[in-house]
Amino acid sequence: MPLAVPRFRCDLSAPMQATGKHLIIVGFGPVAGYKYSRSIRSAIERGDLADYSIVDLVSQRETVLERLQILPVPPKEVVFIPDPPPGAWANISDFDSVCNSLSNGSNSVRVFISTEPKAHEAYLRYCIDRDIDSIVTKPAILPMRNGRFDASLLLPRMTDLVHCAAQGTARHALLCLGRHHEIYEHEMRQPVMKQMAELGAPITSFHLRTSSGVWNLADEYESREDHPYKYGYGMLMHGGYHYVDVMCQFLALNKQIYPDEDFELELTSYSAFPGDQTARIPETVHGRLSDFADRPWRDPADANYGETDLVTSYCLRNKRTKRVLTLGTLSLEQSTPGMRSWAPFPEVEYNKNGRLHCTDIEVALSTAFSMHCRVIKIPVEDKKGPSDVRARNFARVSARTNASLDPSAQFYTEKTIERPFGNSFSYTAETDIFDKWLSGSTTGSDLDSHLTTTAVLQALAESVFDNGRQKVIDFP
Ligand SMILES: NC(=O)c1ccc[n+]([C@@H]2O[C@H](COP(=O)([O-])OP(=O)(O)OC[C@H]3O[C@@H](n4cnc5c(N)ncnc54)[C@H](O)[C@@H]3O)[C@@H](O)[C@H]2O)c1
Repeated sequence: MPLAVPRFRCDLSAPMQATGKHLIIVGFGPVAGYKYSRSIRSAIERGDLADYSIVDLVSQRETVLERLQILPVPPKEVVFIPDPPPGAWANISDFDSVCNSLSNGSNSVRVFISTEPKAHEAYLRYCIDRDIDSIVTKPAILPMRNGRFDASLLLPRMTDLVHCAAQGTARHALLCLGRHHEIYEHEMRQPVMKQMAELGAPITSFHLRTSSGVWNLADEYESREDHPYKYGYGMLMHGGYHYVDVMCQFLALNKQIYPDEDFELELTSYSAFPGDQTARIPETVHGRLSDFADRPWRDPADANYGETDLVTSYCLRNKRTKRVLTLGTLSLEQSTPGMRSWAPFPEVEYNKNGRLHCTDIEVALSTAFSMHCRVIKIPVEDKKGPSDVRARNFARVSARTNASLDPSAQFYTEKTIERPFGNSFSYTAETDIFDKWLSGSTTGSDLDSHLTTTAVLQALAESVFDNGRQKVIDFP
């Protein structure tokens, strides 16, 4: 049946289906183009996928077609659907006809949702309602009301989606970096879990600080539709999700020590906004950018933009007795050193802000044991120019033990792990989830396993515009 929407066919000669299913990628931005194409090629080679197609918006046609040049396996079809009308973020009736056509009416499609997050929820609900396997980039949903992010809808909407998904047989997963991360999961959380079991001790402090080194200029806050701030969300809903999830995965371990107790989490946050920018990034620093004269040093015009930085302190305590279990902090800061020296965005698709990431986690188990890790990216030594954004990844992990209580242990141990450019810890961790989903094995990141993270995310998001006020939620 011919489609009512414009479509671009890449290869009409190949059959629609071989052995595996057909994958539809909705939203072919830099992330889908850059991160997941190797996994798709492997899935086709293994026979888990027959082939794949891309669905994006008509307004992005040229940019999307440009992105196809670098793909190891070309898509079967590329379909452009009309941009949603003002105030809407997805037009599901257009997608429905595309999906029906690509699936040939059979139950043979799977959907990878990789649009800007405002559009995730409509596509995710579509897949859940029709029992189609889906995988979505973080954050799973980003509810909007009257053109702005409405944090109060996060948990209710996510809970409803999870309940609806439980009625069907399709598998729905979320792409995030913490669940299979070599450092956060294998070098930190699993050894901590083992120590907790041996000592019978809870996590008594957990501090996570991530510095993402993202530098947006005033006009970029106003113009960007990717990683936007103008709809009332920022750092937390961009990179922040990963680290809220990591924090929740650690704090949930306390349940193994006190399985019959209920906990509550109290948190208080402080944020900085684009409107604070000139106070925080002075003209002396701004003036070091190339072509800075074309980009006046100024704060963005709108004071209601989403946050750039968020710092929270929290307490996890027993809900009944009010006894404190864990004290900690979570810092999601983007106004930290990156590698940007340019004013106009360079001709790179991914990481055009010159983001350079550095994360520290410190976790203590009572008076007996603690671990610390720093995961960092530094530019490659053979940088080809100021906007060559390649970086390599390394981590240092250390452990401190009260060896007086355990003579078989050492007071301090340390190790370093390196990764070359193109194979970062986060890349491997995220593609691991994608590969598992493609091959039909357990992902470790199914949608329902993100409810606790969503509850904490909502509390944090509500505190962004309510700084200094305590929020208390049940945990988990
Ligand atoms: N894991 C990470 O570290 C990481 C990093 C960056 C982004 N992300 C996530 O990956 C996703 C994609 O990121 P990106 O930077 O490529 O995003 P982007 O906003 O640059 O691109 C998304 C694409 O989706 C398309 N799109 C938007 N609305 C659509 C709709 N209604 N229907 C169909 N297509 C639509 C856009 O035209 C664009 O081509 C986001 O969810 C983002 O949060 C993850």
